[in-house]
Amino acid sequence: MKQIKIGLIGWGTVGAGVTRILRKNSALISRRLGARLRLARVADLNLRKDRGVKLAPGILTRDASRIVNDPEIDIVVELIGGLDPAGELVLAALRGGKRVVTANKALLAERGKHLFAEAARVRRRIFFEASVGGGIPIIKIIREGLAANRIKSILGIINGTTNYVLSRMSEEGITLAAAVRGAQLEGYAEKDPALDLEGVDSVHKLALLSSLAFGGWVDCSRIYREGIREITAEDIAFTERLGYRVKLLAIAKQTRDGADLRVHPTLVSRRHLLASVNGIYNAVYLEGDFSERQIFEGQGAGLGPTASAVVADLIEAGREILSGNESIPPFLAGNGDLRLAPTGDVACRHYLRIPALDRPGVLARIASILAEGGISIDSVIQRQKRKRGLVPVILMTHIAPEKDLRRAMDRISRLDVVRDRPVRIRVED
Ligand SMILES: NC(=O)c1ccc[n+]([C@@H]2O[C@H](COP(=O)([O-])OP(=O)(O)OC[C@H]3O[C@@H](n4cnc5c(N)ncnc54)[C@H](OP(=O)(O)O)[C@@H]3O)[C@@H](O)[C@H]2O)c1
Repeated sequence: MKQIKIGLIGWGTVGAGVTRILRKNSALISRRLGARLRLARVADLNLRKDRGVKLAPGILTRDASRIVNDPEIDIVVELIGGLDPAGELVLAALRGGKRVVTANKALLAERGKHLFAEAARVRRRIFFEASVGGGIPIIKIIREGLAANRIKSILGIINGTTNYVLSRMSEEGITLAAAVRGAQLEGYAEKDPALDLEGVDSVHKLALLSSLAFGGWVDCSRIYREGIREITAEDIAFTERLGYRVKLLAIAKQTRDGADLRVHPTLVSRRHLLASVNGIYNAVYLEGDFSERQIFEGQGAGLGPTASAVVADLIEAGREILSGNESIPPFLAGNGDLRLAPTGDVACRHYLRIPALDRPGVLARIASILAEGGISIDSVIQRQKRKRGLVPVILMTHIAPEKDLRRAMDRISRLDVVRDRPVRIRVED
């Protein structure tokens, strides 16, 4: 049976999962592919750490360049993460005529334009199914299953850590800090969870999904981003009473003015399909002009689901090698940059929590600022419970444009009776 030689760089969590799958399901994969995927070399900085899998002698090296420069290796799997040296290794592998499989969303989102252009130039593909949605084959779904459609919108819960944190806050009434500690103990959050909590990881994944769906490159720094750090147990409790769940959503909508791309905490009605996606689960809710609405759900991270997506890419790359077809253009070759819609024009309903002094007339002053900004109030809840002498004024607005809300919130936060930063959560209807 023909052998396809694999070089794996980064034998960490996902890398270990890949070696486990290649060992356990080797016969099955060979039958499906009609060739054997042989792990020819594995590079990692730490050669002593136990990964739960034994490799044949001589396979393990500290030197990743031995993989990208080895003419015998057909496919390079990059699983070290980060921008450098991952980016240089990917380029070297492509230029050496190899296919590349990666789970590195940060690298592809930040440098994808250059990497995919280089891949097109050398007529080699970069496979990146594991970079978004872990076990959900969302890249293949958009690239193949929905290829006949104009994608109208994508709503995604695409960061398992934040979804786990928000779910625990909602289920147990605990604070964000306590939920983050829980996630760390369970191994669902990094020691420094900033990239997840601040929405950076979701921005990277949204950039990839929207490039793929809308056909153009996105500069990540231009995607509106707000993390979940400001969300309190109080917000979760109030919004639940109003019939909502708080989710960190990655939103991509095709509008007449361009692509509306955002990552921020969002209220979704309890009846929305995304409301019941909890814990470390991810889900992507897509609308195509002919396919209509669909939702795809699965574990968004972790050794098994992510490694499963990496090995699926290895099998696809293997099929490409066996077919001798070297000319499939990378779908993300990109024909320029996506035109982005101005964020200020995006309109939706808003939940507002304004921590104000418990004085007569406070609500009237807030309401008049909103009215002057053309923002009408749908409902008001003013709880009687004081916290450090403050009573939160809770409001739901009717649909209002972002720029009007920003202006009004700025004025409200400067009122002498407002003593803490007001919180605003957008509603996705
Ligand atoms: N974990 C997940 O659930 C998940 C899900 C989706 C995507 N991903 C992506 O998958 C990639 C890998 O993630 P991971 O969680 O498996 O990371 P990880 O556990 O930190 O593994 C990375 C491994 O690469 C090694 N390494 C770093 N620099 C190297 C170099 N120059 N040469 C050789 N080895 C090197 C690291 O060694 P040291 O530890 O000694 O530095 C570590 O063992 C990342 O891009 C990540 O974003 C991960």
